[in-house]
Amino acid sequence: METSAKKVLVKTYGCQMNVYDSARMGEVLAPLGYAATAAPEEADLIILNTCHIREKAAEKVYSELGKLRRLKDERKSQGGELLIAVAGCVAQAEGEEIVRRAKAVDLVFGPQTYHRLPALLARRAETGATVVEADFPAEEKFESLGRGTGPVRGVTAFLTIQEGCDKFCTFCVVPYTRGAEFSRPPAQIEAEARRLAGQGVRELTLLGQNVNAWHGDGGMGLAGLVARLSSIPGIERLRYMTSHPRDMDGALIEAHAENPKLMPFLHLPVQSGSDRVLKAMNRDHTTTDYLKLIARIRAARPDMALSGDFIVGFPGETDADFRDTLAVVEEVGYASAFSFKYSPRPGTPAAERKVQVPEEVKLARLLELQALIARQQSDFNRACVGKSLPVLVEKPGRRPGQLSGRSPYLQAVHLDGPEGLIGRVVETQIDGVGTNSLSGHYRTAA
Ligand code: SAH
Ligand code: SF4
Ligand code: F3S
Repeated sequence: METSAKKVLVKTYGCQMNVYDSARMGEVLAPLGYAATAAPEEADLIILNTCHIREKAAEKVYSELGKLRRLKDERKSQGGELLIAVAGCVAQAEGEEIVRRAKAVDLVFGPQTYHRLPALLARRAETGATVVEADFPAEEKFESLGRGTGPVRGVTAFLTIQEGCDKFCTFCVVPYTRGAEFSRPPAQIEAEARRLAGQGVRELTLLGQNVNAWHGDGGMGLAGLVARLSSIPGIERLRYMTSHPRDMDGALIEAHAENPKLMPFLHLPVQSGSDRVLKAMNRDHTTTDYLKLIARIRAARPDMALSGDFIVGFPGETDADFRDTLAVVEEVGYASAFSFKYSPRPGTPAAERKVQVPEEVKLARLLELQALIARQQSDFNRACVGKSLPVLVEKPGRRPGQLSGRSPYLQAVHLDGPEGLIGRVVETQIDGVGTNSLSGHYRTAA
């Protein structure tokens, strides 16, 4: 039977910050009578929450919009209406251009304006014209969202604490799509964390494009915030990402040595192992600075698992520069890492450079780097066999009787046990390793 309630489908691309935003969009729409759906055929509103970081990511949106246009036309021929919205970083970067390229779009709004969705939908209904909203009211957004986080399911949750970026790496669109660096006030973050803990969340991942640049009043840094959040009853584990090497201060490193709730996993991208390339990227640190920092972190927390991001084929990158990147990877030894071919982005300084690296060279370098990273990841996982690790049990596994959770180092762990263990940290004897996960059996439940 037909119900009068409306349905919304939010499709998420890009990083965890978009995952967080998509969930908040659902909450903003709930009071208007929108329930979530996963089926496009029954949606009254489809929102694409998009990513602009590389060309491929942005182009995906246009091919999806082509498909949605057909769905919209079909709906119209049946006397119904399907609204299509483009949100996120492509919306911010391209604005009106989206409306020119994809006529079926009804709403375009950037990452800092989705709290205004009720007003944007009303404007659309009143005028019948495409609505394009592209301000950066980050503070207003968080104040508005701060009034309530909807129900969550699961024992882990993302919590955005910082947005935007002032670093302007020469390859990157983020400062243009997310705006200037903004730190949410600690009281607002703590209130959200307490609500999440009250709903059964045991692990929080604090998010930000430069999460370790977060600061509160009176010189409070991320270490202070972590201390405050780890005293919340129910919160057993804290993580944060993504960090910039320049913002990794002594207090935060010390927190890793002293706070058992702060997990020993750090995503700390270096992008390249060549000082020449780092300079051209405007990263504002050298390879030596990075390696020294890693040494300090490992002195504080010897079992720290490291992760990173790498770009190959940045304009002007020579084979020798690329060898320097491989050498840094060899020296650090990553538990996991992401690597990408450089993708020229409109409006960024690096895209203007004449010395672009040919596609086939980029691909060859990427494959070589990825093979090295895969080897390191597999070594890291294999070294866990025979150890006992505390695993936060998150959900039932694929087989009956199986559970799935995560190690402190963010590895997926499969173990046998009763569902009553979900939400608890259990000491697990690791006895097997798959391509992307560990397996084991639990010894004791904490
Ligand atoms: N704020 C984070 C990264 C945000 S973007 C940081 O500073 O580390 C995530 C990753 O995408 C980056 O670390 C980088 O490796 C990659 N990336 C960003 N722009 C890119 C581009 N133009 N081409 C290829 N990869 C890119
Ligand atoms: Fe982009 Fe650099 Fe800012 Fe990271 S620090 S978001 S890579 S500009
Ligand atoms: Fe993409 Fe925007 Fe995140 S460009 S990576 S969705 S900040």
